[in-house]
Amino acid sequence: MSYQALFTSLLAAIPLPVFVVDHALSVHYYNQLACRLNESVSQGMKLDQVLQDPAILQLVYESIQSGKPLKGRSGKGKADERWKVYVTPLAHQAQNESARSYSYFAVAIEDMAELVRLESAQRDFLANISHELRTPLTSVRLLAETLEDAIDTDHEKAQTFVEKIEIEVQYLSGLVSEILELSRIESGQMPMVIEPVGAEQLVLEVMARMLPLAQRHRVILRTSIQQGKNLVAADSKQIARVLINLVHNAIKFTPSGGMVVIGTSLQMQKRMQNFFVRDTGVGIREEELPRIFERFYKIDRARSKADFIGPGGGGTGLGLAIARQVVKAHGGHIVAESKVGQGSTFTFTLPLS
Ligand SMILES: Nc1ncnc2c1ncn2[C@@H]1O[C@H](COP(=O)(O)OP(=O)(O)OP(=O)(O)O)[C@@H](O)[C@H]1O
Ligand SMILES: [Mg+2]
Repeated sequence: MSYQALFTSLLAAIPLPVFVVDHALSVHYYNQLACRLNESVSQGMKLDQVLQDPAILQLVYESIQSGKPLKGRSGKGKADERWKVYVTPLAHQAQNESARSYSYFAVAIEDMAELVRLESAQRDFLANISHELRTPLTSVRLLAETLEDAIDTDHEKAQTFVEKIEIEVQYLSGLVSEILELSRIESGQMPMVIEPVGAEQLVLEVMARMLPLAQRHRVILRTSIQQGKNLVAADSKQIARVLINLVHNAIKFTPSGGMVVIGTSLQMQKRMQNFFVRDTGVGIREEELPRIFERFYKIDRARSKADFIGPGGGGTGLGLAIARQVVKAHGGHIVAESKVGQGSTFTFTLPLS
């Protein structure tokens, strides 16, 4: 192997974006990962055309001037760290190590944004879990205290407190099993039974199960089935649960007199079947749309409490996070579209069987 070939494959083997520049900042070499930072990078381009961040460029200047290896990072605290950068003069003429003897400088850049984002998501997750557990636990404690006072004197009052405690405990155990389930799906430990399932059959099953809830809330529930005879490759129990959560949400956020449609259609070119749940409800603001699939994310806690359905108040904010994981595990994806005051549509795809 020639040194040139060895050098190029060494560059490719480094798991960081790397540029090799000269004194005048002209780029002589770069690896594939470096192209991710700037797609239009090419040999001979100046580094200050490739990278915009002045702090990185400053570090490179300093290293060129001093002939010393330097490293730096953006931001002061850990939380706003976006990158780490390492500038290394490459000893070209080994005998004479004056600053001028270095003709090339390697600039390696480590992207920290993803790591920082993950760490902060982790922190939010723990904070959310604690909050979600503490609220009902506090209620249970207060209810139990009041129950203690009422138990001998007012039997009827005591009975209502027992019922309230049961509701909170039911909510808590639902929450704990949702958290467990989410972590099981995320770590790939959820047993899935993939079989051919009729698209229409799935929709009709969910329709039948959700009709009583829709009627109770005076929301019209309809189906819209196109090419429903197609078979999709799915775990029917899990996909039914995804659809049920979507319909449940749709009913929850649609005022009486509104309409919810559960439907399916074909996406022939991609060999995928679409499933959608459309409502004429309150809608979701554009800036909230990307966030609703996050664990525990609820747009307006007060509002979902007021729209109370089922035990324990307005839900845990885990339903869509679970839905996204389940659909992903099937090789599909889920998206939401919405207009405030007009309604929302949630669509997910499943591969045809
Ligand atoms: N159809 C919809 N219309 C308007 N807002 C919605 C709709 N579906 C979801 N949302 C918003 O997204 C949030 C997250 O939904 P998600 O299903 O994850 O949680 P949840 O319904 O609050 O609780 P859970 O499903 O765990 O009982 C909801 O709290 C609500 O703010
Ligand atoms: Mg939900």
